[in-house]
Amino acid sequence: MTQQHNEQQLDVRSMTIDDLAAVFHLGEQLFTSEFSPSMYRTWDEYEITTMFNSDNELCLVAELAGEVVGFALGTTVEKQNSPWKYGYLVWIGVKPGLQKGGTGAQLFAELKHRMVEQGVRMMLIDTDADNEAGIHFFKKQGFGHIQKHVYMTLNLSKKHKKRRKGKV
Ligand SMILES: CC(C)(COP(=O)(O)OP(=O)(O)OC[C@H]1O[C@@H](n2cnc3c(N)ncnc32)[C@H](O)[C@@H]1OP(=O)(O)O)[C@@H](O)C(=O)NCCC(=O)NCCS
Repeated sequence: MTQQHNEQQLDVRSMTIDDLAAVFHLGEQLFTSEFSPSMYRTWDEYEITTMFNSDNELCLVAELAGEVVGFALGTTVEKQNSPWKYGYLVWIGVKPGLQKGGTGAQLFAELKHRMVEQGVRMMLIDTDADNEAGIHFFKKQGFGHIQKHVYMTLNLSKKHKKRRKGKV
């Protein structure tokens, strides 16, 4: 899938093994430690290689003038007792400076197309409640029915220390 982008051609295509480093480094710029799409996912080399190995049809990059400027990594999920196949868009990112130029929408359109071909009937995303730009982008792609999810933490190291003190 190609599109004219600032007089250069944007090419949205499947990610290959040669793109892994570029995708990893671009993700490092976007998904810093302050950015948490969810508590249980972090951006690291294992995340990309695992997704690439399990669902490489749903791992896409956007290339502009020979440079990887965006990516979308998805997977499919089948739930027990549900006839529906879900498409989970786990990571999408566009190079800072090129955002708001249509690259994310192009990546999303191609991923959605591939998911439909795989029999997906419902797409899912999750992101931090503070990621207003991301939420706005997803709404523009047609997502709705926002469900709030609560994370809670329990600091086990502190509790452990307290107990040990009490014992002495
Ligand atoms: C979210 C992201 C992938 C969107 O990519 P993009 O190339 O900037 O998006 P597009 O240019 O295709 O924008 C599509 C629509 O979303 C809107 N949008 C995109 N970024 C936006 C922002 N920062 N603020 C408000 N709206 C935004 C655009 O206005 C556009 O709507 P329009 O067609 O009415 O103008 C990109 O901003 C990004 O990499 N963000 C950081 C990583 C992230 O948050 N990923 C999502 C969670 S994994």
